[in-house]
Amino acid sequence: MSGQILSFDSLAVHAGRDDLAALGVHAPPLDLSSTNPLPGIDAGGASYESMATGGHPVDDGGLVYARLWNPTVARFEAALARLEGTAEAVAFSSGMAAMTATVLAAKAERGGGHVVAVRPLYGGTDHLLGSGLLGVDVSYCTPAEVAAALRADTCLVVLETPANPTLELVDIRAVVDAADGVPVLVDNTFATPVLQNPAAHGAALVLHSATKYLGGHGDVVGGVVATDATWAAALRRVRAVTGALLHPLGAYLLHRGLTTLPVRVRAQQASAEKTAIWLSTHPAVRRVCYPTMPDADPAGLLGRQLRGPGAMLTIQLAGGYEQAVRLTSRVRLFTHAVSLGGVDSLIQHPASLTHRPVPAAARPGADLVRLSIGLEDVDDLKADLEQALG
Ligand SMILES: Cc1ncc(COP(=O)(O)O)c(C=O)c1O
Repeated sequence: MSGQILSFDSLAVHAGRDDLAALGVHAPPLDLSSTNPLPGIDAGGASYESMATGGHPVDDGGLVYARLWNPTVARFEAALARLEGTAEAVAFSSGMAAMTATVLAAKAERGGGHVVAVRPLYGGTDHLLGSGLLGVDVSYCTPAEVAAALRADTCLVVLETPANPTLELVDIRAVVDAADGVPVLVDNTFATPVLQNPAAHGAALVLHSATKYLGGHGDVVGGVVATDATWAAALRRVRAVTGALLHPLGAYLLHRGLTTLPVRVRAQQASAEKTAIWLSTHPAVRRVCYPTMPDADPAGLLGRQLRGPGAMLTIQLAGGYEQAVRLTSRVRLFTHAVSLGGVDSLIQHPASLTHRPVPAAARPGADLVRLSIGLEDVDDLKADLEQALG
Protein backbone atom coordinates (compact mmCIF):
# COMPACT_ATOMS: atom_id res chain seq x y z
CA MET A 1 0.00 0.00 0.00
CA SER A 2 2.97 2.38 0.41
CA GLY A 3 2.79 5.28 -2.03
CA GLN A 4 -0.92 4.65 -2.70
CA ILE A 5 -3.46 7.24 -1.60
CA LEU A 6 -6.08 5.31 0.34
CA SER A 7 -9.51 6.32 1.62
CA PHE A 8 -10.07 6.45 5.38
CA ASP A 9 -11.78 3.04 5.51
CA SER A 10 -8.94 1.34 3.63
CA LEU A 11 -6.37 3.05 5.84
CA ALA A 12 -8.21 1.82 8.94
CA VAL A 13 -7.72 -1.75 7.71
CA HIS A 14 -4.15 -1.43 6.40
CA ALA A 15 -2.30 1.30 8.37
CA GLY A 16 0.59 0.02 10.47
CA ARG A 17 0.79 -3.17 8.43
CA ASP A 18 3.02 -2.11 5.52
CA ASP A 19 5.83 -4.51 6.40
CA LEU A 20 3.79 -7.63 7.21
CA ALA A 21 4.13 -9.29 3.80
CA ALA A 22 7.91 -8.80 3.88
CA LEU A 23 7.94 -10.39 7.33
CA GLY A 24 5.96 -13.34 5.92
CA VAL A 25 3.06 -12.89 8.35
CA HIS A 26 -0.56 -11.81 7.98
CA ALA A 27 -1.39 -10.65 11.51
CA PRO A 28 0.87 -8.10 13.24
CA PRO A 29 3.41 -9.77 15.54
CA LEU A 30 2.77 -9.31 19.26
CA ASP A 31 6.07 -8.59 21.03
CA LEU A 32 5.74 -9.11 24.78
CA SER A 33 9.44 -8.73 25.63
CA SER A 34 10.10 -6.64 28.72
CA THR A 35 13.78 -6.39 27.83
CA ASN A 36 15.87 -6.89 24.69
CA PRO A 37 19.33 -8.38 24.09
CA LEU A 38 21.90 -5.62 23.69
CA PRO A 39 24.15 -5.57 20.59
CA GLY A 40 26.98 -4.02 22.64
CA ILE A 41 27.49 -1.54 25.45
CA ASP A 42 28.10 1.51 23.25
CA ALA A 43 25.35 0.82 20.69
CA GLY A 44 22.82 -0.13 23.40
CA GLY A 45 23.75 2.94 25.43
CA ALA A 46 23.28 5.21 22.41
CA SER A 47 19.84 3.72 21.77
CA TYR A 48 18.92 4.10 25.44
CA GLU A 49 20.01 7.73 25.39
CA SER A 50 17.98 8.45 22.25
CA MET A 51 14.78 6.85 23.54
CA ALA A 52 15.00 8.21 27.10
CA THR A 53 15.10 11.71 25.62
CA GLY A 54 12.09 11.12 23.34
CA GLY A 55 13.79 9.81 20.20
CA HIS A 56 13.53 6.51 18.34
CA PRO A 57 15.88 3.52 18.81
CA VAL A 58 19.14 4.14 16.91
CA ASP A 59 20.08 1.85 14.00
CA ASP A 60 21.73 -1.34 15.29
CA GLY A 61 21.37 -0.09 18.88
CA GLY A 62 18.48 -2.38 19.82
CA LEU A 63 15.24 -1.63 21.63
CA VAL A 64 16.86 -1.97 25.09
CA TYR A 65 13.79 -2.02 27.39
CA ALA A 66 10.01 -2.11 26.93
CA ARG A 67 9.36 1.07 28.92
CA LEU A 68 11.31 2.92 26.22
CA TRP A 69 9.98 1.25 23.06
CA ASN A 70 7.78 -1.61 21.97
CA PRO A 71 7.23 -2.56 18.31
CA THR A 72 3.58 -3.60 18.79
CA VAL A 73 2.82 -0.28 20.49
CA ALA A 74 4.68 1.56 17.70
CA ARG A 75 2.49 -0.16 15.07
CA PHE A 76 -0.71 1.00 16.76
CA GLU A 77 0.75 4.51 17.09
CA ALA A 78 1.67 4.63 13.39
CA ALA A 79 -1.82 3.48 12.38
CA LEU A 80 -3.65 5.95 14.63
CA ALA A 81 -1.45 8.82 13.38
CA ARG A 82 -2.46 7.97 9.79
CA LEU A 83 -6.14 8.06 10.74
CA GLU A 84 -5.78 11.40 12.55
CA GLY A 85 -3.62 12.88 9.77
CA THR A 86 -0.69 13.66 12.07
CA ALA A 87 3.00 12.84 11.74
CA GLU A 88 3.14 10.66 14.86
CA ALA A 89 1.20 9.38 17.85
CA VAL A 90 2.25 8.30 21.33
CA ALA A 91 0.28 5.68 23.28
CA PHE A 92 -0.18 5.46 27.04
CA SER A 93 -1.57 3.08 29.64
CA SER A 94 -4.87 5.02 29.84
CA GLY A 95 -6.53 8.20 28.63
CA MET A 96 -5.72 9.87 31.94
CA ALA A 97 -2.05 8.84 31.64
CA ALA A 98 -2.07 10.47 28.19
CA MET A 99 -3.58 13.66 29.64
CA THR A 100 -1.07 13.67 32.52
CA ALA A 101 1.87 13.26 30.13
CA THR A 102 0.57 16.02 27.85
CA VAL A 103 0.29 18.55 30.68
CA LEU A 104 3.77 17.62 31.98
CA ALA A 105 5.23 17.88 28.47
CA ALA A 106 3.53 21.24 27.84
CA LYS A 107 4.90 22.57 31.12
CA ALA A 108 8.40 21.36 30.30
CA GLU A 109 8.41 22.48 26.66
CA ARG A 110 6.82 25.89 27.15
CA GLY A 111 8.06 26.63 30.64
CA GLY A 112 4.64 27.70 31.92
CA GLY A 113 2.48 26.50 34.76
CA HIS A 114 -0.99 27.58 33.63
CA VAL A 115 -3.62 25.61 31.73
CA VAL A 116 -6.88 26.90 30.26
CA ALA A 117 -9.59 24.23 30.42
CA VAL A 118 -12.78 24.65 28.40
CA ARG A 119 -15.77 23.16 30.23
CA PRO A 120 -17.58 20.80 30.01
CA LEU A 121 -14.91 18.11 30.18
CA TYR A 122 -14.92 14.45 31.18
CA GLY A 123 -15.06 14.50 35.01
CA GLY A 124 -11.72 12.72 35.37
CA THR A 125 -9.99 15.33 33.21
CA ASP A 126 -11.66 18.19 35.06
CA HIS A 127 -10.58 16.61 38.35
CA LEU A 128 -7.01 15.85 37.27
CA LEU A 129 -6.38 19.38 36.00
CA GLY A 130 -7.75 20.99 39.14
CA SER A 131 -6.23 18.49 41.58
CA GLY A 132 -2.92 20.30 42.03
CA LEU A 133 -1.13 16.99 41.42
CA LEU A 134 0.38 18.20 38.14
CA GLY A 135 1.61 21.50 39.59
CA VAL A 136 -0.42 23.68 37.25
CA ASP A 137 -2.89 26.51 37.86
CA VAL A 138 -6.09 26.01 35.90
CA SER A 139 -8.59 28.53 34.58
CA TYR A 140 -11.89 26.89 33.65
CA CYS A 141 -13.89 28.79 31.07
CA THR A 142 -16.31 28.66 28.15
CA PRO A 143 -15.02 28.63 24.55
CA ALA A 144 -15.82 32.36 24.25
CA GLU A 145 -13.71 33.14 27.33
CA VAL A 146 -10.47 31.47 26.16
CA ALA A 147 -8.70 34.64 24.98
CA ALA A 148 -9.45 36.42 28.27
CA ALA A 149 -8.27 33.41 30.31
CA LEU A 150 -4.79 33.30 28.72
CA ARG A 151 -1.79 34.33 30.83
CA ALA A 152 1.86 34.86 29.91
CA ASP A 153 2.61 31.42 31.40
CA THR A 154 -0.27 29.52 29.75
CA CYS A 155 1.24 26.36 28.30
CA LEU A 156 -1.87 24.50 27.10
CA VAL A 157 -5.55 24.93 26.24
CA VAL A 158 -7.69 21.80 26.73
CA LEU A 159 -11.09 21.19 25.17
CA GLU A 160 -13.42 18.33 24.36
CA THR A 161 -15.86 18.21 21.43
CA PRO A 162 -18.44 16.72 21.43
CA ALA A 163 -18.12 17.17 25.19
CA ASN A 164 -18.78 14.53 27.80
CA PRO A 165 -21.62 14.25 28.87
CA THR A 166 -23.69 17.06 27.32
CA LEU A 167 -22.54 16.59 23.70
CA GLU A 168 -21.87 20.33 23.40
CA LEU A 169 -19.94 21.17 20.24
CA VAL A 170 -16.92 23.48 20.36
CA ASP A 171 -15.53 25.27 17.30
CA ILE A 172 -11.92 24.02 17.34
CA ARG A 173 -10.62 26.62 14.85
CA ALA A 174 -12.20 29.47 16.83
CA VAL A 175 -10.48 28.28 20.05
CA VAL A 176 -7.15 27.79 18.23
CA ASP A 177 -7.40 31.38 16.95
CA ALA A 178 -8.32 32.66 20.42
CA ALA A 179 -5.41 30.71 21.96
CA ASP A 180 -3.04 32.92 19.99
CA GLY A 181 -0.21 30.42 19.54
CA VAL A 182 -0.71 28.48 22.78
CA PRO A 183 -1.08 24.78 21.81
CA VAL A 184 -4.62 23.42 21.91
CA LEU A 185 -5.36 19.84 22.94
CA VAL A 186 -8.66 18.38 21.69
CA ASP A 187 -10.07 15.28 23.34
CA ASN A 188 -11.50 13.43 20.31
CA THR A 189 -12.74 10.38 22.22
CA PHE A 190 -16.45 10.87 21.43
CA ALA A 191 -16.03 11.70 17.72
CA THR A 192 -13.18 9.29 16.86
CA PRO A 193 -11.08 9.99 13.73
CA VAL A 194 -13.99 8.59 11.69
CA LEU A 195 -16.06 11.71 12.40
CA GLN A 196 -13.52 14.41 13.23
CA ASN A 197 -9.82 15.20 12.73
CA PRO A 198 -9.01 18.06 15.11
CA ALA A 199 -5.45 18.50 13.75
CA ALA A 200 -6.97 19.60 10.42
CA HIS A 201 -8.63 22.45 12.36
CA GLY A 202 -5.41 23.59 14.05
CA ALA A 203 -5.26 21.42 17.19
CA ALA A 204 -1.64 20.70 18.16
CA LEU A 205 -2.55 17.58 20.13
CA VAL A 206 -5.43 15.10 19.63
CA LEU A 207 -6.15 12.86 22.61
CA HIS A 208 -8.20 9.67 22.79
CA SER A 209 -9.27 7.51 25.64
CA ALA A 210 -8.51 4.45 23.48
CA THR A 211 -10.48 2.46 26.06
CA LYS A 212 -13.62 3.63 24.24
CA TYR A 213 -14.30 3.45 20.47
CA LEU A 214 -10.73 2.68 19.31
CA GLY A 215 -10.74 -0.61 21.22
CA GLY A 216 -14.50 -0.90 20.87
CA HIS A 217 -15.00 -4.15 22.79
CA GLY A 218 -14.68 -3.09 26.41
CA ASP A 219 -11.55 -5.14 27.04
CA VAL A 220 -8.64 -2.66 26.82
CA VAL A 221 -7.65 0.42 28.85
CA GLY A 222 -5.39 2.78 26.90
CA GLY A 223 -4.79 6.34 25.75
CA VAL A 224 -3.11 7.93 22.77
CA VAL A 225 -2.10 11.41 21.60
CA ALA A 226 -1.75 12.14 17.86
CA THR A 227 0.54 15.07 17.14
CA ASP A 228 3.62 16.37 15.27
CA ALA A 229 7.15 14.99 15.62
CA THR A 230 8.30 17.63 18.14
CA TRP A 231 5.40 17.07 20.55
CA ALA A 232 5.67 13.30 20.05
CA ALA A 233 9.30 13.41 21.21
CA ALA A 234 8.32 15.47 24.27
CA LEU A 235 5.53 13.01 25.10
CA ARG A 236 7.76 9.95 24.62
CA ARG A 237 10.31 11.50 26.97
CA VAL A 238 7.66 11.92 29.68
CA ARG A 239 6.41 8.38 29.01
CA ALA A 240 9.90 6.89 29.23
CA VAL A 241 10.68 8.72 32.46
CA THR A 242 7.31 8.28 34.21
CA GLY A 243 6.61 4.80 32.83
CA ALA A 244 3.02 5.03 31.55
CA LEU A 245 3.56 2.82 28.49
CA LEU A 246 0.57 1.03 26.95
CA HIS A 247 0.88 -2.74 27.39
CA PRO A 248 1.69 -4.44 24.04
CA LEU A 249 -1.33 -6.75 24.29
CA GLY A 250 -3.51 -3.65 24.66
CA ALA A 251 -1.77 -2.10 21.65
CA TYR A 252 -2.38 -5.27 19.61
CA LEU A 253 -6.09 -5.20 20.45
CA LEU A 254 -6.36 -1.45 19.78
CA HIS A 255 -4.64 -1.84 16.42
CA ARG A 256 -7.11 -4.60 15.55
CA GLY A 257 -9.93 -2.38 16.80
CA LEU A 258 -9.01 0.29 14.26
CA THR A 259 -9.81 -2.05 11.37
CA THR A 260 -13.53 -2.11 12.26
CA LEU A 261 -13.71 1.42 13.70
CA PRO A 262 -15.40 3.04 10.66
CA VAL A 263 -18.13 0.38 10.33
CA ARG A 264 -18.75 0.25 14.07
CA VAL A 265 -18.99 4.02 14.46
CA ARG A 266 -21.31 4.46 11.48
CA ALA A 267 -23.61 1.60 12.51
CA GLN A 268 -23.74 2.75 16.14
CA GLN A 269 -24.33 6.32 14.97
CA ALA A 270 -27.28 5.25 12.77
CA SER A 271 -28.94 3.62 15.78
CA ALA A 272 -28.14 6.62 18.01
CA GLU A 273 -29.78 9.00 15.53
CA LYS A 274 -32.97 6.90 15.51
CA THR A 275 -32.94 6.55 19.29
CA ALA A 276 -32.41 10.31 19.76
CA ILE A 277 -35.39 11.15 17.51
CA TRP A 278 -37.60 8.60 19.24
CA LEU A 279 -36.59 9.80 22.73
CA SER A 280 -37.19 13.44 21.79
CA THR A 281 -40.94 12.70 21.54
CA HIS A 282 -41.09 10.45 24.62
CA PRO A 283 -43.18 11.94 27.48
CA ALA A 284 -40.66 10.77 30.13
CA VAL A 285 -37.85 12.72 28.45
CA ARG A 286 -37.58 16.47 28.93
CA ARG A 287 -34.64 17.03 26.57
CA VAL A 288 -32.31 15.04 24.33
CA CYS A 289 -28.70 16.28 24.04
CA TYR A 290 -27.47 15.13 20.62
CA PRO A 291 -25.76 17.12 17.85
CA THR A 292 -28.69 16.82 15.38
CA MET A 293 -31.28 18.14 17.84
CA PRO A 294 -32.65 21.68 17.22
CA ASP A 295 -30.36 24.34 18.79
CA ALA A 296 -27.56 21.78 19.44
CA ASP A 297 -25.28 23.21 16.76
CA PRO A 298 -25.63 27.00 16.56
CA ALA A 299 -22.19 27.43 14.94
CA GLY A 300 -22.98 24.94 12.15
CA LEU A 301 -20.14 22.56 13.03
CA LEU A 302 -21.91 19.42 11.78
CA GLY A 303 -20.53 18.84 8.32
CA ARG A 304 -17.89 21.58 8.65
CA GLN A 305 -15.91 20.11 11.56
CA LEU A 306 -17.82 17.02 12.68
CA ARG A 307 -18.73 14.56 9.91
CA GLY A 308 -21.58 12.96 11.87
CA PRO A 309 -23.35 13.26 15.23
CA GLY A 310 -21.84 10.09 16.71
CA ALA A 311 -23.27 7.37 18.92
CA MET A 312 -23.36 9.05 22.33
CA LEU A 313 -26.50 10.74 23.55
CA THR A 314 -27.67 12.20 26.82
CA ILE A 315 -31.21 12.70 28.08
CA GLN A 316 -32.74 14.88 30.75
CA LEU A 317 -35.57 13.03 32.43
CA ALA A 318 -38.90 14.64 33.27
CA GLY A 319 -38.91 12.64 36.52
CA GLY A 320 -35.44 13.84 37.58
CA TYR A 321 -33.06 11.83 39.76
CA GLU A 322 -35.72 9.35 40.96
CA GLN A 323 -36.49 8.43 37.38
CA ALA A 324 -32.75 8.10 36.63
CA VAL A 325 -32.50 5.58 39.48
CA ARG A 326 -35.48 3.63 38.12
CA LEU A 327 -34.27 3.74 34.51
CA THR A 328 -30.73 2.58 35.25
CA SER A 329 -31.95 -0.24 37.49
CA ARG A 330 -34.68 -1.46 35.11
CA VAL A 331 -32.76 -1.72 31.83
CA ARG A 332 -32.06 -5.27 30.66
CA LEU A 333 -30.26 -4.94 27.32
CA PHE A 334 -28.33 -1.79 28.21
CA THR A 335 -25.74 -2.40 30.91
CA HIS A 336 -25.70 0.08 33.78
CA ALA A 337 -21.96 0.87 33.70
CA VAL A 338 -19.51 3.70 33.13
CA SER A 339 -17.31 3.80 29.99
CA LEU A 340 -18.60 4.05 26.44
CA GLY A 341 -17.91 3.37 22.79
CA GLY A 342 -18.11 -0.42 22.84
CA VAL A 343 -20.20 -2.79 20.74
CA ASP A 344 -22.74 -3.15 23.58
CA SER A 345 -24.93 -0.33 24.86
CA LEU A 346 -24.22 1.27 28.24
CA ILE A 347 -26.17 3.69 30.42
CA GLN A 348 -24.95 5.71 33.40
CA HIS A 349 -25.69 8.74 35.60
CA PRO A 350 -22.82 11.26 35.13
CA ALA A 351 -23.51 13.40 38.23
CA SER A 352 -23.05 10.35 40.48
CA LEU A 353 -20.23 8.62 38.59
CA THR A 354 -18.10 9.93 35.70
CA HIS A 355 -18.57 13.58 36.72
CA ARG A 356 -18.78 13.10 40.49
CA PRO A 357 -15.43 14.89 41.18
CA VAL A 358 -16.51 18.03 39.27
CA PRO A 359 -17.43 20.98 41.56
CA ALA A 360 -21.21 21.18 42.07
CA ALA A 361 -21.62 24.41 40.07
CA ALA A 362 -20.15 22.78 36.94
CA ARG A 363 -21.47 19.24 37.48
CA PRO A 364 -24.16 17.85 35.13
CA GLY A 365 -27.69 17.88 36.54
CA ALA A 366 -29.12 15.01 38.58
CA ASP A 367 -31.86 14.53 35.93
CA LEU A 368 -29.32 13.66 33.25
CA VAL A 369 -28.49 10.14 32.02
CA ARG A 370 -25.88 9.28 29.37
CA LEU A 371 -26.34 6.53 26.79
CA SER A 372 -23.62 4.88 24.72
CA ILE A 373 -25.39 3.22 21.80
CA GLY A 374 -23.91 -0.10 20.69
CA LEU A 375 -24.43 -2.51 17.81
CA GLU A 376 -27.61 -4.21 19.04
CA ASP A 377 -30.78 -3.96 16.93
CA VAL A 378 -32.14 -0.46 17.44
CA ASP A 379 -35.70 -1.72 17.96
CA ASP A 380 -34.49 -3.92 20.81
CA LEU A 381 -32.72 -0.93 22.35
CA LYS A 382 -35.84 1.22 22.08
CA ALA A 383 -37.99 -1.57 23.57
CA ASP A 384 -35.60 -1.86 26.51
CA LEU A 385 -35.69 1.89 27.15
CA GLU A 386 -39.49 1.93 26.77
CA GLN A 387 -40.03 -0.74 29.42
CA ALA A 388 -37.50 0.91 31.74
CA LEU A 389 -38.96 4.40 31.29
CA GLY A 390 -42.56 3.22 31.62
C1 LIG B 1 -13.81 11.98 26.93
C2 LIG B 1 -12.89 11.19 27.81
N1 LIG B 1 -11.60 11.53 27.88
C3 LIG B 1 -10.73 10.85 28.67
C4 LIG B 1 -11.15 9.79 29.45
C5 LIG B 1 -10.17 9.06 30.33
O1 LIG B 1 -9.77 7.88 29.72
P1 LIG B 1 -9.33 6.54 30.51
O2 LIG B 1 -10.54 6.08 31.30
O3 LIG B 1 -8.92 5.62 29.41
O4 LIG B 1 -8.21 6.92 31.40
C6 LIG B 1 -12.49 9.40 29.39
C7 LIG B 1 -12.97 8.26 30.21
O5 LIG B 1 -14.15 8.02 30.35
C8 LIG B 1 -13.39 10.11 28.55
O6 LIG B 1 -14.70 9.79 28.49
